[in-house]
Amino acid sequence: MKADARALIRRAVILSLVIMTTFMFSSIDTFAAAKKPVKIKVTPRQATLTVGKQVRIKVKSVKPAKASKAVKYKSSNKKVAAVTQKGVVKARKKGNAVITVTSKKSKKVKAKVKITVKAKPKAKPQAQPNPAPTPQKPQTPTPKKSLVIYFSRGENILNASEYSKSLGDDIDAMTSASVLPAESGAITGNNGILAGWIAEALGTKTYSIHVKNPYPQLKKETQQIVLNQEQINGTLPEVEACTEDLSQYDIIYLGFPNWYGEPPRALYTFLNENNLDGKTIVPFTSHDRNGFSDSIQILKAKLPNSAVLEDGLIVDRKNVMDAKNVILEWVAKVSKEAENAKSNPLATVAGQKEAAKKLIGQTLTKEEVIAAVGQYTKFVTDTNGCTHDIESGRFYYPGFVIYSRADEDGSRFVILSVD
Ligand SMILES: Cc1cc2nc3c(=O)[nH]c(=O)nc-3n(C[C@H](O)[C@H](O)[C@H](O)COP(=O)(O)O)c2cc1C
Repeated sequence: MKADARALIRRAVILSLVIMTTFMFSSIDTFAAAKKPVKIKVTPRQATLTVGKQVRIKVKSVKPAKASKAVKYKSSNKKVAAVTQKGVVKARKKGNAVITVTSKKSKKVKAKVKITVKAKPKAKPQAQPNPAPTPQKPQTPTPKKSLVIYFSRGENILNASEYSKSLGDDIDAMTSASVLPAESGAITGNNGILAGWIAEALGTKTYSIHVKNPYPQLKKETQQIVLNQEQINGTLPEVEACTEDLSQYDIIYLGFPNWYGEPPRALYTFLNENNLDGKTIVPFTSHDRNGFSDSIQILKAKLPNSAVLEDGLIVDRKNVMDAKNVILEWVAKVSKEAENAKSNPLATVAGQKEAAKKLIGQTLTKEEVIAAVGQYTKFVTDTNGCTHDIESGRFYYPGFVIYSRADEDGSRFVILSVD
């Protein structure tokens, strides 16, 4: 019984302690809650928000410090800034609003928070994805323009028309005389006939080189002039000024007969006086046994800034009148090659001069100089395409001269300078 009584007493003490403690604390709370604040401070005191953003207004302090911090929130303009009873302000649209924070214990105790709501910054124009490339038409390169230039003896003899009439029916038999009526009836020669057909196949026109002083009618007399005057003396016959605007052409079909191993020298005059730089040259010839001889090399040397095709057309003078189909086939093939041909950039005067400078101090044969520098271009007088004055030891190139000194037997040259 004693034990039971003691346990009962212990329980009663604990219970009374719990009750006392509970009462004590609740009475404190009740006491504090009951205390009215005289002033409240909130934070933040003002805020600027952009639409969609939010901020929480909290009671920072109250006076007296132990007064109730319980507050109510109210917005002056809910459409601009709404506020929850936990003090969360939500910015809704551009404008101004005031959030009034009022003590729950005293309606007179308030704090105001000015809220400015700004519109959302305008969305930056989104970086446009690269516009889809407009489908390009497959680039068809502009077809290059071609012109057929030729020299033919039949158009360069005195009174050609009269002469051809005098030949009568013998014209065909006289093709070596190079005086043939073209299909148009005009007087021309073998290369003139070829030129006409090439132009027809290309759909372009021809330009005929004419000397100012025509050669004699008889072939033999012309041969004598060429051999005994022009080639020996290195003279160049004058030619009529070119009437074509060559700048508009990219490809030049260049026809000429073989006159003792080279083109008629009137062609050199023409090339000296007209600029074919950057153009593609397609040579063709009507000859009598010797084909081009050295003409391609000579042309390459004289036209260092052009692309001279090597597989030119060669038609024996006896086959000229039957050559139309051959020409059509050749034009179809060579015109594609000519479209794609590029002039050799190394074959420029500047490039040649640089190559020449590298030879200074060396002792070389003329052939070695030409091999290193390239063929001479402008005033070609020999079939090597290089003008070389052995006595002075000078190699004449267009735009510069290689000065050299011949060794004792004159077969080798000490390269002194390039200027
Ligand atoms: C002055 C002269 C020299 C010639 N020398 C050669 C020659 O060395 N080799 C050759 O195959 N034909 C030579 N021929 C022939 C021409 O090349 C040939 O007859 C050519 O077809 C003429 O073309 P044309 O009528 O257009 O002038 C020579 C003709 C002349 C007038």
